[in-house]
Amino acid sequence: MSKTESIHGTWASRWVFIFAAAGSAVGLGNIWKFPYIVGENGGGAFVLVYLACILMVGVPVMMGEVLIGRRARQSPVNALHELATETGVDTRWSLVGLMGVLAGFLIFSFYSVVAGWVLHYVALSGSGQMVDLGQEQAGDLFNGLLADPSTLFLWHSLFVALVMTVVAGGVINGLERATRLLMPALFALLVVLMGYSSTTGQFGNAWNFLFGFDFGALSWDGVLVALGHAFFTLSLGMGAIMAYGSYMPKKASIGGAVLTIAALDTLVALMSGLVIFPIVFATQMDPGAGPGLMFVTLPVAFSQMPGGQIIGFMFFVLVALAALSSAISLVEPAVAWLVERKGFGRLKSCALIGALVWLLGIGALGSFNFLSDFEPFGKNIFDLLDFVTANLLLPLGGICVALFVGWRLKQSISADELAISNPLLFKVWYALIRFVAPVAIGFIFLQNL
Ligand code: TRP
Repeated sequence: MSKTESIHGTWASRWVFIFAAAGSAVGLGNIWKFPYIVGENGGGAFVLVYLACILMVGVPVMMGEVLIGRRARQSPVNALHELATETGVDTRWSLVGLMGVLAGFLIFSFYSVVAGWVLHYVALSGSGQMVDLGQEQAGDLFNGLLADPSTLFLWHSLFVALVMTVVAGGVINGLERATRLLMPALFALLVVLMGYSSTTGQFGNAWNFLFGFDFGALSWDGVLVALGHAFFTLSLGMGAIMAYGSYMPKKASIGGAVLTIAALDTLVALMSGLVIFPIVFATQMDPGAGPGLMFVTLPVAFSQMPGGQIIGFMFFVLVALAALSSAISLVEPAVAWLVERKGFGRLKSCALIGALVWLLGIGALGSFNFLSDFEPFGKNIFDLLDFVTANLLLPLGGICVALFVGWRLKQSISADELAISNPLLFKVWYALIRFVAPVAIGFIFLQNL
């Protein structure tokens, strides 16, 4: 029997679900990570593969996650356990939920460090310290921050505290309220910034870089990065969207909501690319500069454009808020699970989980300074956390969701939850989640072994 409510609450409407899930999806992945991995992987061909992954793998798997969550109305671990029981298959499928909890912690630990950089830039721009920056000064500013563990520690700690305060507020008063205003404001500012970028005279080059297909520039490694990023940017593969789905009202259409969320997320990523690359080319920076790309390009633009002080400040505030609304979804599955399993209050669960991710984050921020020589597997801790989560754990979680929904869960349960009236569309989705998603993920994995 499908339930109508979760013990943690239910979103007021289908739009609240869309905003909350888009708030989770749109984050540092879109504005910070997407442009720099496009740069590292040679541009247009990478973007094309990424878009294909979103549409063919991301969207169907997201529908799978939402339907599992909404059907069972519990945290991912328990949702998978319950649906496995209901369908009479192995209950160890719930381990996928546990793997997601782990992935969420690992992602959080480096996510919070980058969010800390953003907070630092909020403070810099807010106190008028981002004036007359050339490319070199902007680089020095960023490298100076990375070399300073106590400042990083301060901002990381503040970010963890902010996230945990929102999550402790609960689904309705915390999560829902935090996401309502954000998306329109972020959109508006990206449009303003695109306006600035078009004055650099490099907009056309940036466009060609993003949308010109040069398949010679793409490696199998790049294909894996594109797939991993499709999961990362849509918040898939660890149960975040499953947890949000468990708070979704019964009548809302899952397919329509998921398509809206994926479209918003993709739009923000592409707009971010169109903001950042013209500046990169105009200042003759290296598009493959890596994680610092956003932090060395945009300050240059802000310090030179008219009104740049205030626009820069607003921009970093919004990125910080986007990071916040994403980060809450990284811990929500774990918090909900603790509440269900141990009967702890939300506050206690948040305190425990907050302490854990705060500690993990200290290792990640040390990668740039006191732990910079520690490079297991040839990567520092920060890069390793990013690699293991985005390129291994999330696709693995995704393949498990696809296999569970496509091959284990009764088809009637999926049909009932999705309630797609057009039988052909349902068949298309079913074929994507049964065959296309697992085969694509499996194939890309094998190519990279
Ligand atoms: N999607 C977010 C971003 O692009 C990050 C994120 C939030 C995430 N929750 C997640 C990634 C769950 C993977 C899984 O910034």
